[in-house]
Amino acid sequence: MISGTDTLGQATPLPQLKESPDTENLTTRPQADNPRPVLVVSVTSGKGGVGKTAIVANTAIAMSRMGKKVLIIDANLGLANIDVIYGLTPHYNLNHFFGGLVDLNEILVEGPGGVKILPSGSGLTQMTRLKPSQKAQFIEGLDRLDEKFDAVLIDTEAGISDNVTYFNTAAQEVLLIATSDPASITDAYTLMKVLFLQFQQRNFHLLVNVARDSDEGLEVFQKLTIAADRFFDISLNYLGYIPFDENMLESRRRQMPLIELYPDSQASASFRSLAKGLLSLPTDLCPKGSLQFFWKNFLAQNPSQDS
Ligand SMILES: Nc1ncnc2c1ncn2[C@@H]1O[C@H](COP(=O)(O)OP(=O)(O)OP(=O)(O)O)[C@@H](O)[C@H]1O
Ligand SMILES: [Mg+2]
Repeated sequence: MISGTDTLGQATPLPQLKESPDTENLTTRPQADNPRPVLVVSVTSGKGGVGKTAIVANTAIAMSRMGKKVLIIDANLGLANIDVIYGLTPHYNLNHFFGGLVDLNEILVEGPGGVKILPSGSGLTQMTRLKPSQKAQFIEGLDRLDEKFDAVLIDTEAGISDNVTYFNTAAQEVLLIATSDPASITDAYTLMKVLFLQFQQRNFHLLVNVARDSDEGLEVFQKLTIAADRFFDISLNYLGYIPFDENMLESRRRQMPLIELYPDSQASASFRSLAKGLLSLPTDLCPKGSLQFFWKNFLAQNPSQDS
């Protein structure tokens, strides 16, 4: 089943919940102190360079300006990552945490608009090889985070590596980014297919980036819909498009997000609409809605190292 809307901010309700994997081996304190639902969105794409990092960077600020506490998990090991866009130089990353040098609170850095970033370094690659005790250490570290977040955006790498598929399967919502480039559409389709066939992921949101106009955005959505319709029970929800904005180049060069540099641009307005659309997704579908729940989901998929 394919469902969707053609306007930003009017997402259709998602039909079902993901099952919680078996996380019995992971010990954690009860979540009584964090009862608020957290929106966890994995921002992903089949093809690289379609704008994931730019979208995460700007949408996070838009959410923050709406009064939400936002965390970005930088799961992208590439060069042009979130801290570059925000002009930040993190001192620590997850490697330092797993090395026992710092607490998770010390790793988080603050970006524009109060957005927090969890820099991964190569720590996320390491996370696919954690011992059970390290997994527990990480989950307990999350419990000690000073801040409680309303929304978590994960900037993933492109493609279908293990890390990417684990993040997409663990996150509450998967936001697929594609452009009108045929290669991007084909790769987006392949990613959905892999996530559906191998990980039973059925619900996806689509955002079309660098679109000329709304027609071009809709065209990409329709192409993907027709292709994805070959699979029974996949839901693709259209969240709209971000127009091409020539000022993105300047934004990169000045290490200032577009939404800060040109808040009145059409692209900035689209980032705000996207933020609104994501924040209005029904949170009652999230069973335990917590950062811990997401990470336990993630870690439960990774084979533990016994030694
Ligand atoms: N709406 C837009 N208009 C104009 N340029 C854009 C837009 N969105 C992104 N870009 C530009 O496209 C390039 C790629 O963007 P970005 O690095 O965010 O992609 P990515 O999907 O994160 O790439 P990767 O897969 O390598 O992580 C950047 O130079 C960025 O400034
Ligand atoms: Mg990127």
